[in-house]
Amino acid sequence: MDITPLGDLDDLVVGGGVVGLSAAWRLARAGRRVAVADPAPASGASHAAAGMLAPVSEVGYTEEPLLRLGAASLERWPAFAAELADDAGLGSANALDYRADGTLDVAFGADDLAALDELAAFMDKLGLPVERLTGRECRRLEPMLAPSVRGGLHAPDDAWVDPRRVTAALLAALRHLEVPILTSRASLLPSGLPSGLPSGTAVRPASSGAVRLADGREVGAGRIVLAAGAWSGELAGVPVRPVKGQIMRLRSPQPLLGRCVRGMVHGLPVYLVPRGDGELVVGATQEELGFDTRVTAGGVYELLRDARELVPGVTELEVADVVAGLRPGTPDNLPLIGPDATSGVTLATGHHRGGVLLAPLTAAILLGEEPELGALCSPRRFTNRDER
Ligand code: GLY
Repeated sequence: MDITPLGDLDDLVVGGGVVGLSAAWRLARAGRRVAVADPAPASGASHAAAGMLAPVSEVGYTEEPLLRLGAASLERWPAFAAELADDAGLGSANALDYRADGTLDVAFGADDLAALDELAAFMDKLGLPVERLTGRECRRLEPMLAPSVRGGLHAPDDAWVDPRRVTAALLAALRHLEVPILTSRASLLPSGLPSGLPSGTAVRPASSGAVRLADGREVGAGRIVLAAGAWSGELAGVPVRPVKGQIMRLRSPQPLLGRCVRGMVHGLPVYLVPRGDGELVVGATQEELGFDTRVTAGGVYELLRDARELVPGVTELEVADVVAGLRPGTPDNLPLIGPDATSGVTLATGHHRGGVLLAPLTAAILLGEEPELGALCSPRRFTNRDER
């Protein structure tokens, strides 16, 4: 464990995934004294994630508030990626594999086509740029698509990024800013508790929150920011549950696709995300199995079966990697960002399918930059329904 003198901290971020690391980086950049606690930073859901920055293609009909959050965060991504690449000493956002080449949502049957029509009408109503395409037009954009694709919806503004490169860059940027990373599990202490530990073992400023690390050390801060993803429910008793996703990376000598492609196969959504180096990410299952991160034969079978329906050529590719991650789901699919009256900490969790997309906006909300969008994410919606 790092034995770094911490001094008086403004923010201690519990959780070193893309949301926690982004928050720590932006808070430190804004001049706040910050530390991060995580036993294995960048190894959870952010390691599994495909990195789609696709508010339009991921949205459901009842999820207009989520769409607003996603669209606002997508707008922030180009500057976020450029500044991160700069702070991490990487040169340009290309090093994060940031690309804004759009998503193509495709349909096979009459029901799928009708669903795409409805989605197109909904997007039009919201003033979002989408284009309805015939099967032939889809194949002109993506020649490797199956001949049975009958139509599609093109969202030209959707983007994507490689989350593994993003978290590596965030860790490098934090190192440059001398933000301590405490590689230890943290449990929350009720605010204002006397430590009970011999003097010298605890660092507790005039704090409004504190955590106990696995070695018994206590660390206090003006604000504890809980960004522990699927584990946030267990740590703070907030309504966050794990939603398992199995995801596969295939290796291709040359890129098979020019943009993200997604579709419904056998009633299940599947997506394919191309990387600059020829890798193709195929995701993802959605399973309610608690804290289960096993990669299963059934999960791998489903992913390959459904990906092959969209792009038959995937079966020629080499399997590079299959992992399972745990999305932090909430009852209404919206994240929880802001002070939580019950646990006394500030939440930055519950991002479900959108952690990578929503990381820049979450950091901005924690900095008080987006009060209106921040109100949509307030944890008060679950503790005090009158204030919604
Ligand atoms: N954002 C895609 C997923 O969670 O599978």
